[in-house]
Amino acid sequence: MGRMRAKRNIPIRMERCHERWFDDPMLNKGHWHEACGFASDVPMWLEIGCGKGKFCTEMALENPGVLYIAMEKEPSVILAAIEKAHALEIPNLFFIKGDANLIENYFDKDEVDHIFINFCDPWTRQNKPKRRLTYRAFLDKYKGFLKTGASISFKTDNDDLFDFSLKEFEESGFELSGLTRDLHNSEYDKDNIRTEFEQHFADQGINIKKVIAKLK
Ligand SMILES: C[S@@+](CC[C@H](N)C(=O)[O-])C[C@H]1O[C@@H](n2cnc3c(N)ncnc32)[C@H](O)[C@@H]1O
Repeated sequence: MGRMRAKRNIPIRMERCHERWFDDPMLNKGHWHEACGFASDVPMWLEIGCGKGKFCTEMALENPGVLYIAMEKEPSVILAAIEKAHALEIPNLFFIKGDANLIENYFDKDEVDHIFINFCDPWTRQNKPKRRLTYRAFLDKYKGFLKTGASISFKTDNDDLFDFSLKEFEESGFELSGLTRDLHNSEYDKDNIRTEFEQHFADQGINIKKVIAKLK
């Protein structure tokens, strides 16, 4: 009963934070800076599958000189992220309620400086690798709007997904760096912001894997 009531409240609660998201974000393709009130030379970072927003809120606060767009398809999940950003009054963080399968409709050529993909669904048990957000067909879509030399930061708990992604990145023309299979005990942990899922896996003693894939 409580869950039902919470779900019915989603539109009202989304409406209260309307300056954080857009009714038709596809109209912003090629115009994100203008739509969000930023100068066109401000770097734009994109997070795909932002979950409840711990990572994007902390990243946007730490990087005020960046326009940060966070995308998430689940309405109740993105609501939590949007409400977090709204409560903290973060001026450089905006949201897309949408599906990465349609991502080419949201961004234009050379529009994005960096992508974050954190703990995306591994689809291992269902054996559906083509649904992984690092599958080559997705990488091709991202290449359509990443600037030359731009990078994708990728973190996961899942060994199969990590190995698969390394191969997909390399075969799709990305150069790998900063690779670690134990992020929290590596030199790269210094600047690391933990996501909700990352903390959950770390609490279970699971090593976190990370790589940066740069578009050649
Ligand atoms: C396992 S959770 C990880 C959430 C967060 N990144 C974290 O690390 O805590 C994956 C998230 O990606 C979202 N997601 C999965 N597929 C997506 C897609 N095609 N487009 C947008 N979001 C997606 C899910 O709804 C979910 O919130």
